[in-house]
Amino acid sequence: MNDVYILAIETSCDETSMAIVKNGREIDSLTILTQMDTHANFGGVVPEIASRMHTENITMVLEETLKKSSVSIKDIAAIAVTYAPGLLGSLLVGIECAKTLSLVYNKPLIAVNHTMGHIYANNIEHEIVYPTLALIVSGGHTDMLILKNETDMEVLGSTMDDSIGEVYDKVARVLGMPYPGGPAIEKNALEGEDTYPLPKPMNDNSYNFSFSGLKSYIINLVHNERQRGNEIRISDLACSFQKTAVDELTRKVDLALKNTGIKNMILAGGVSANKYLREEMKKTCENNGATFHVPNILYCTDNAAMIGCAAYPLYKSKIFADYTLNAKSSENIKTYIENKEN
Ligand code: KG4
Ligand code: ZN
Repeated sequence: MNDVYILAIETSCDETSMAIVKNGREIDSLTILTQMDTHANFGGVVPEIASRMHTENITMVLEETLKKSSVSIKDIAAIAVTYAPGLLGSLLVGIECAKTLSLVYNKPLIAVNHTMGHIYANNIEHEIVYPTLALIVSGGHTDMLILKNETDMEVLGSTMDDSIGEVYDKVARVLGMPYPGGPAIEKNALEGEDTYPLPKPMNDNSYNFSFSGLKSYIINLVHNERQRGNEIRISDLACSFQKTAVDELTRKVDLALKNTGIKNMILAGGVSANKYLREEMKKTCENNGATFHVPNILYCTDNAAMIGCAAYPLYKSKIFADYTLNAKSSENIKTYIENKEN
């Protein structure tokens, strides 16, 4: 087969990104325009502003991506786009752009689930070895899966309430740190010590997660201490929170590696940019004799390269979308797999 270049578009949240990816693994060109500074003024992503900014920027991002590429648009094999999950108005901007390019240049359209994109970011530097255990930790999701091969997967467990990224962001906010909270907590935690006793998130042996109790406990603790006029040791609390959350993630991965006997593990999603989590997960895998891979920090948070990687197996199986493609803002990985099977 000739080299396959896929033009991928990602606009599910607050990054307008496009990439041209060769053969599902090599990044030929990548542009990421983040709106983070704008949303930071509001303490979180404002959906209406996000979609307006995607509309303003998407054509420039396309122009830039094509300019940096070694190929021209006529050499592109397919146009891939994130259709789910994410902010509805933001997803629609990317979808309309993808449909237009597909129609004008007569290229097949590929619909990619964003969570699958995070998983496939792991193909950029090391090819995924199957079967593998996958943990996705992002702003929208916390899911543990078994990937049996490129097309067959099973969800072992998910968060029953807040995602881990959401909790990082909320804890950061109550501690007065800027959005997005993850990097801010990580930085503070490095300067602190684990001195705050916190409740364990979900002391069970399932593969599900629950982080809202931990979040509420910290929010209440901060409010109570402030009401009493007591000082909060911000770095210590950030450190204790991060340790408690990461302990729970590694405990469940340890359990899954032991119970399934799987010897490969990948981590993905925005929170996987966290160095403490990466190190602790690596140790957990080593203790179980399992290989461990996580994308380069550049490809952990939202980007279109990962969408181009996830589109490649769909391209090979000729799974193309038609022009009725619409955004599915709340399609989680479980519904994605169910829909795929039906
Ligand atoms: O995957 P992502 O870019 O967007 C979604 O698909 O949700 O993830 C964003 C999340 C945010 O909650 C952000 O605070 C978190 O990833 N994050 C981090 C770090 N970098 C980003 N969390 C912890 N440590 C980090 N270094
Ligand atoms: Zn994401």
